[in-house]
Amino acid sequence: MTTEPIRAGVIGWPVGHSRSPRIHGHWLGELGINGIYDRFAVPPDRIDAFLAEFEKSGLKGANVTIPYKENAFRALDVVHPAAKALGAANTLWLEDGMLHGDNTDGAGFIANLDQNITEFSELSGSALVLGAGGAARAVIHALKERGFGPIHVANRTVAKAEAIAESFGGEILPMEWNNEAIQRIISDPTLSLLVHTTSLGMKGQPPLELGISGLDPRVVVTDLIYAPLETDLIKQAKQQGNPAVGGLGMLIHQAVPGFERWFGARPVPDEALTGLLVADLEKS
Ligand code: ATR
Repeated sequence: MTTEPIRAGVIGWPVGHSRSPRIHGHWLGELGINGIYDRFAVPPDRIDAFLAEFEKSGLKGANVTIPYKENAFRALDVVHPAAKALGAANTLWLEDGMLHGDNTDGAGFIANLDQNITEFSELSGSALVLGAGGAARAVIHALKERGFGPIHVANRTVAKAEAIAESFGGEILPMEWNNEAIQRIISDPTLSLLVHTTSLGMKGQPPLELGISGLDPRVVVTDLIYAPLETDLIKQAKQQGNPAVGGLGMLIHQAVPGFERWFGARPVPDEALTGLLVADLEKS
């Protein structure tokens, strides 16, 4: 007797760049699960209908990537807490005919730091987040839940940092994207964490050009970028002795809850998967 494979996938437009099939495919093989994880490129005029009729897709669940995380949020029957806080869903699953959704970006961000930075779980105090886009929202929400505060948020468009402060409340302090102001926070002795979330320094994008020599050596530095694997910011941080971690681990960890929901086993991110993704990134 043959049983049908469990199906899941990633929905986006475009979706060819997504690393998710590589991640889930690796875990399916490693855990010996009869499952399939595909890419679904859904054009903008079809996405809302696709999500509204998700049951008909034959999928047990899906990841949702750019630019559809807000569409996914609006299509949910059951909204889980992080998705509710962010107004965006990246992980969907069917349960008793109802479409459930959550956002795992913030949990993935924290899990990456917990795995790579000794005693990160005991860290608190103030944080500086550079950027105020979708990824920054997830990071700021997760940091707030972990008890960080105040959280300074510097963004080129300061209104976006202000909107985050308004929607989350608490100690979120928007600020101008201005070197002098940023340097003041960098050399603040109460700072414990520096997070970079913009596209500056990404392969093919302009450089970040941020001096961090004013950081206390115990400040943890992290960059959400994973291509290149080590940005100039991470290289600089390591050179001057700050604990530092790049973005590849966040990409891997944000995938864990979806895999567990769809395929019924919780994968453990390991060196084998990191090696596979590093090899892919080096080729592209
Ligand atoms: P993501 O989902 O990865 O967060 P996004 O929502 O498009 O992507 O956010 C991109 C972030 O990079 C924003 O903070 C953006 O600043 P603006 O809100 O002012 O657009 C930031 N960013 C992109 N290009 C930038 C640049 N040249 N200088 C400064 N910030 C930049």
